[in-house]
Amino acid sequence: MLRTLIVGLGHAGLDLHWAVLRRLRASGADRDLFAPGPAYGFDPRPDADPPAGEELTRVGSLAEAARVLDPAGTVVHLCTPPVARLELLRELAALGFRRILVEKPLAVDLAAAEAIAALRRDAGLDLTVVAHWLDSALTTRTLEIVRSGRLGELRSISFVQRKPRLRRTLLRQGHPTAFDAELPHSVGVALRLAGDAQLVDAGLSDMHVGDVRVPHMGTARLEVRHAGGARTDIFSDLTSPVRERRITVELAGGRLVGHYPGSADDDYAHLELLVDRQQTRSVFRDDSLTTFLRRVYRQYADGLDGAPEFGLNMRVATLLSEAKAHCLAAEAGLGADLGVELVPATAGELAGVAEGMERV
Ligand SMILES: NC(=O)c1ccc[n+]([C@@H]2O[C@H](COP(=O)([O-])OP(=O)(O)OC[C@H]3O[C@@H](n4cnc5c(N)ncnc54)[C@H](O)[C@@H]3O)[C@@H](O)[C@H]2O)c1
Repeated sequence: MLRTLIVGLGHAGLDLHWAVLRRLRASGADRDLFAPGPAYGFDPRPDADPPAGEELTRVGSLAEAARVLDPAGTVVHLCTPPVARLELLRELAALGFRRILVEKPLAVDLAAAEAIAALRRDAGLDLTVVAHWLDSALTTRTLEIVRSGRLGELRSISFVQRKPRLRRTLLRQGHPTAFDAELPHSVGVALRLAGDAQLVDAGLSDMHVGDVRVPHMGTARLEVRHAGGARTDIFSDLTSPVRERRITVELAGGRLVGHYPGSADDDYAHLELLVDRQQTRSVFRDDSLTTFLRRVYRQYADGLDGAPEFGLNMRVATLLSEAKAHCLAAEAGLGADLGVELVPATAGELAGVAEGMERV
């Protein structure tokens, strides 16, 4: 049975991870997974208190957490902003914690992602990136249709991810660019559906609110070419007045349009399939974070190898870092030549992607 430590008691730590864990622990369905007794949380922010009356106890430091918990039998949820990750991972590793769930994005640039990958190897960490769209029921159904081959060859994938993220962006600078907020979800799905990819083009714009400008936090655009020939384009707008998380998959014999749940308020996905001018529509429950957390705890409990999944998420981090570098070079007038500048994936990373594709 596993204990829990949540590091970072903000939106992701409390509203997402703890909200799901509290329900899973209370349901009693996974008694063999969750050790009795409180979960623990750490956050240096003075007002980051867990909700009163719940089984989440705040500790004053990570060292204290290591004293009250058995680090080897604990799952750590690292829910801090991406700019505050590497040092925390080093500290957690030094204290003996091994099983660590890292919120997306894994890192904000390639150097940080590679440093995390090296720490994972050297310290024997079992790191899992929170990429719960990979466990989404909509992704699973889409993957099943694509892999079955009944609608022929996969031609293209397109994502639109719009949401109003004005207040949180103006309050805190946790994400350096709009690539870091929503795209980690969709790039992972694209790689799982169509295999590894290389960057073709990318774009970035600022957020403007009145006379305030937040550089690089408005829209992000990414285009990649997959090894099998299909293309994916992704557009994300953090200044949108409406929420939308849409995937469109074009196959030789039909089109599939899916909507991921807009928020935890209504965790239902929608899927439309257009084949020979016939449209079929289905609506189904899609609580992907719950599915993901339960699967990962089970994986940790059973001692299963998380390396392929980590390989796929390293490729996500790499593609997003390349996209950012391309945009920043274009902004500086350096005109990055994508064909020449990109570092090709290593054989190990590509193997990780291929294996990761097998695990839904
Ligand atoms: N998977 C998802 O759907 C999803 C949704 C929202 C956010 N996120 C990700 O979660 C991460 C956190 O985002 P958020 O919205 O919760 O931000 P947030 O600002 O609401 O919370 C971050 C918390 O981390 C704490 N923190 C900072 N440095 C720390 C340290 N050294 N030790 C311990 N705590 C520290 C802060 O005090 C804050 O309370 C981001 O990477 C974000 O992209 C993921």
